[in-house]
Amino acid sequence: MGQEIYLTGITTTGTPHIGNYVGAIRPGIEASKDLDTQHFYFLADYHSLAKNEDPDRIGQSTLEIAASWLALGLDTEHACFYRQSDILEIPELTWILHGMTAKGLMNRAHSYKAQVQLNVEGGNNDPDKGITMALYSYPILMAADILMFKSTKVPVGQDQKQHVEMARDIAQRFNHNFEELFVLPEAVIDDDTAVLKGLDGRKMSKSYNNTIPLFADEKRLRKLIMKIKTNSLEPGEPKDTADSTLFDMYKAFATPAETAEVAQRYAEGIAWGEMKQVLFEYINEQIRPAREEYERLIANPGVVEAELQRGAEKAREISVPYLAEIREAIGIRKLG
Ligand code: TRP
Repeated sequence: MGQEIYLTGITTTGTPHIGNYVGAIRPGIEASKDLDTQHFYFLADYHSLAKNEDPDRIGQSTLEIAASWLALGLDTEHACFYRQSDILEIPELTWILHGMTAKGLMNRAHSYKAQVQLNVEGGNNDPDKGITMALYSYPILMAADILMFKSTKVPVGQDQKQHVEMARDIAQRFNHNFEELFVLPEAVIDDDTAVLKGLDGRKMSKSYNNTIPLFADEKRLRKLIMKIKTNSLEPGEPKDTADSTLFDMYKAFATPAETAEVAQRYAEGIAWGEMKQVLFEYINEQIRPAREEYERLIANPGVVEAELQRGAEKAREISVPYLAEIREAIGIRKLG
């Protein structure tokens, strides 16, 4: 077996929050330090079209996500960091893969089925109301992302596992019908990475509007942390660390020894207000240096753009010749 190739995409909707940091950015940057493996990280801006985003938001989100990964120290010499839409071979491969994809397979995609269910529950006559083809064939674009770089490992959240399996199915069908050109990818789901809860105690997510932006300025960070939901136990009453958003958040940032100390303070009845102050100071200290770099990058989008262009150039060294092979295999050829 050759070298493992890790690849993952980040949809360009929204501003990175501390849930994204703990769940995806930090483990991604850590993993990319392993020089025995190859890493591809990209901004999935075509994917964001499935969600009907405001055009200006897509650009802003692209800048914010790219600046976050760079500010946090992603080594772009080793990892290939690019924007999906700069790799022209990806949309072309997407179309080619449409011919390898059973419609019935797409009917089974959870992301599509969830929308249909919302329509049905909402009493709509048309179960497909408001559903675009971009949403429907979203997994095919994702398959192109994955197959284009011969990825073997695709780190994703549980909700994306099915899409990786679909990429595998599509690749298998191509390999069977034409030539063994595609590598079969595998989803990697890390059960150890923390899934953070948001301000209201539900999973931290843009769709719940309960996030803490990763690089919120100090004042805003404090204000948001002060809003985190707790129970009504008084200062001095022993508190349970299980099911405490504040505790989980602290744990996601601190060392095991520090976490054990805070657990002790819970048992001793630390006041919620004080715990919030502890958490704020801890996160703020840890984020501060990256926040300064982030602000510098946001003020200099040209620097970020240059990084992405460099990444695209590296990526296209792979995608251009590979797509030529794929076209040849399926019979899209020059004459004579
Ligand atoms: N669909 C993924 C998500 O919403 C993002 C994504 C796009 C992706 N293309 C990918 C993830 C390829 C892994 C591999 O999270």
